[in-house]
Amino acid sequence: MNTEIIYDINDENLDRAAEIIKNGGLVAFPTETVYGLGANALDPLAAKKIYSAKNRPSNNPLIIHISDPADAEKYCFTNELYYKLAKRFMPGPLTVILPKKDIVPYAVTGGLETVAVRVPSSKTARSFIERSGVAIAAPSANLSGKPSPTKAQHVILDMYGRIDMIIAGEDSQIGLESTILSLAEAVPKIYRPGKVTYEELKEICPDILISDAVLHMHTGRPESPGMMYQHYAPKAKVTIIDSDDKTRTAFLINKTDCGILCYDEDKELLSMPYSKSLGSKSEPLEQAKLLFARLREFDENDDITQIYAPMPSDKGVGLAVLNRLIRAAGFDVKEL
Ligand code: TXA
Ligand code: MG
Repeated sequence: MNTEIIYDINDENLDRAAEIIKNGGLVAFPTETVYGLGANALDPLAAKKIYSAKNRPSNNPLIIHISDPADAEKYCFTNELYYKLAKRFMPGPLTVILPKKDIVPYAVTGGLETVAVRVPSSKTARSFIERSGVAIAAPSANLSGKPSPTKAQHVILDMYGRIDMIIAGEDSQIGLESTILSLAEAVPKIYRPGKVTYEELKEICPDILISDAVLHMHTGRPESPGMMYQHYAPKAKVTIIDSDDKTRTAFLINKTDCGILCYDEDKELLSMPYSKSLGSKSEPLEQAKLLFARLREFDENDDITQIYAPMPSDKGVGLAVLNRLIRAAGFDVKEL
């Protein structure tokens, strides 16, 4: 398939992108979290094309993207809590799960009776959605299993030749996917942590749970099917080192042929051949922004077959970094 890449983001080009959506095609577009791979959310055939372009299992449901929180009424049954959350966090990196209306095809929800809804804060994304005149179903624009794309170049590498258009816009400011909160359960539950934290959500809804699947390998069917698969993985094996900094440095200092993810503060490790910093140890937002790009950079070097990473904090945005890293590691954590 011929993929058109748009570097110049102007009205005319966004209208052309919207036209592709109206005609049942696929367009990758930037958002503040990660790049999305969009299709008309009301067109089951278009949704099916997303699954084949990504090699994604078809029981893994898609998030639908709208440009205004009130548009959710067309697609799902909202409630008071939805509007409280919308007032505080939308547009932004929060996805909410609600019971779906009939208009949303099962091809989009992976057969579920619920649908995930999000209003991105990226101006390019919202303008593109508005022009399309319909909700846009979009998973992250990576091949299934790869780290999510945070730069246009990542999307081009994974999707060129598989989709109609790539809107090559800005780098994703946040760098990890949205927080997913289900309002379709008796007690609201976080299915996936993100920039909107547990602590912040608790201010709006004091009763809130975190799904077990966030930090643990799931054996049964998790609430969020996307948590089932090993995810976000680079080609090399990833191992998380759970220890104090001194012990981690002592363990890694001779591993000159391994990829080493560390922090700005890890001066000794940073002088090793294949080490990369995730930013400051005390800045989880910086770590969030860099994680997927760093994992992809290791992919560019075929000599690296093993990557070691530190254990992120499980507080605030740290929980989101930990959730992604532990999946990239296939839950391989080495305690020292
Ligand atoms: O930041 C984001 O959310 C990005 C950008 C593009 O908006 N999108 C994204 O989509 O991360 P994706 O498909 O890579 O991840 C969506 C996750 C999956 O784990 C899926 O299982 C879950 O959302 N999900 C979607 N609809 C659901 C539903 N109705 N019930 C439970 N989980 C759902
Ligand atoms: Mg994804």
